[in-house]
Amino acid sequence: MSAPTPLIAGNWKMNGTAESLAQASAVAAAAPAAGVRVALCPPATLLASMSRALAGGQVMIGAQDCHPEPSGAFTGDISAEMLADAGASLVILGHSERRAGHGEDDAAVASKVQAALRAGLEPIICVGETRQEREAGQALAVVTGQVRGSLPAALAGKAFTVAYEPVWAIGTGLTPTLEDIVEVHQAIRATLRDMFGEGGGAPAILYGGSVKPGNAAEILALPEVGGALVGGASLKAEDFLAIVAGSPKA
Ligand code: 13P
Repeated sequence: MSAPTPLIAGNWKMNGTAESLAQASAVAAAAPAAGVRVALCPPATLLASMSRALAGGQVMIGAQDCHPEPSGAFTGDISAEMLADAGASLVILGHSERRAGHGEDDAAVASKVQAALRAGLEPIICVGETRQEREAGQALAVVTGQVRGSLPAALAGKAFTVAYEPVWAIGTGLTPTLEDIVEVHQAIRATLRDMFGEGGGAPAILYGGSVKPGNAAEILALPEVGGALVGGASLKAEDFLAIVAGSPKA
């Protein structure tokens, strides 16, 4: 099976107001037209305005979470259908900041993945070990366990992406060694093949955690690294575009 088209996605987290749309437009103006998929995942408040600002262009819009149910009495929550209605085509699910800060376990993430599929959104499902787990030699067991628990069988044949984001590398400036990144990505690929057979070769596996213009090209060139999920460095168009430029093209 041919390698998946790389995806470089910017996760703005809880950052950005209307004036930040200028950064999104600058990304759209310079993003490559082919060979790599580029996405921005702003806070929910900016989904509709960003999708209007970038309409007709190459840059895809993603959300950062969704509720499992399509509608109902869930004050403050947003359904996958609502995200699609606002212009999203992707949704990040199971980010460690949601797993740790909002008590989301693998089963909760899997139910959100089902919701994304129901609404026609492509899920980006995040997994990653804590520092303690890595130091205890448990990184591979934790990550592959999260993949098995967070990815429902309904993903078979659907478009989706897995993002490996070691918790200790997020926002810290720390990254695993290149060998460690490859080892985890290969373990994720083997798990996907075990779960989905031949189809497990199709999804891109992204790396996330302190990806910057200075380290992106060497990480993105690694075997089984199919793109990046970028936090802080995605807030400035110049930095994000430099990371996109470091991606090998499909
Ligand atoms: P940083 O790039 O800021 O380390 O964040 C990574 C991340 O959590 C993306 O989802």
